[in-house]
Amino acid sequence: MRLNVIKKGTVTSTNTLLKQQAKILPHGTVIVADSQTQGRGRLGRSFYSPDKTGIYMSVLLKKDFGKNPTLVTTMTAVAVMKAIEKVAGRAPQVKWVNDILLGGKKVCGILTEGAFSGGELEYIIVGIGINTTTAVFPDEIKDIAGSVSCDKEKLLSAVLDCFSDEFDNLQSGDFLDFYRERCMTLNKNIKIISPEKEPIEAFAQGIDDNAALIVKYPDGTAGIISSGEVSVR
Ligand code: BTN
Repeated sequence: MRLNVIKKGTVTSTNTLLKQQAKILPHGTVIVADSQTQGRGRLGRSFYSPDKTGIYMSVLLKKDFGKNPTLVTTMTAVAVMKAIEKVAGRAPQVKWVNDILLGGKKVCGILTEGAFSGGELEYIIVGIGINTTTAVFPDEIKDIAGSVSCDKEKLLSAVLDCFSDEFDNLQSGDFLDFYRERCMTLNKNIKIISPEKEPIEAFAQGIDDNAALIVKYPDGTAGIISSGEVSVR
């Protein structure tokens, strides 16, 4: 696919900005910002986005994205891992479903948001936040967040190339094997965290072709987790 990149200085959130203009902008539009004042993460969290020490970008997809936004998230995770590996020479891992880790620290988060019209998925916005050289993090995340420590422009160009390549192969599902190989959640005892519910303990057994997590509960029954978050114990 062809990506058209629009560069911005400080914005509220690249996802929000792209959403405001999604109806008139073409498929493949990318907004990249130097910083965000209201960077958003999953489950209503914020994403720390200080000036020029990270990549804060969103991609608008208006066609060919299939029926399952989770697959777009996992495909994006694969693209980002390949780009980081190319530029930094280190192999990242992924914590299901969308946290990219390097040396055990989260260096990237992905926020995929869909817009529906008449029950159909009309467009998808894929937000990618990567800490490239952020050295100091707020107290709440200082123990879990890290940076790739690389040239921001080189990584941005690699992310755009890898995203474009992986998106062209989205329908094949081929990226899922790479995702499974790099998924540090697999074969571990986990806690399934859902909003307003007590965490549930389980064992992560596999990832199915919809990118859902296949789990086994302590009573021996199996389950499929397709949204929410897990923590690895
Ligand atoms: C997460 O870790 O929960 C997801 C973080 C996603 C952050 C990116 S930064 C660019 C885009 N704009 C946003 O407001 N969020 C995403």
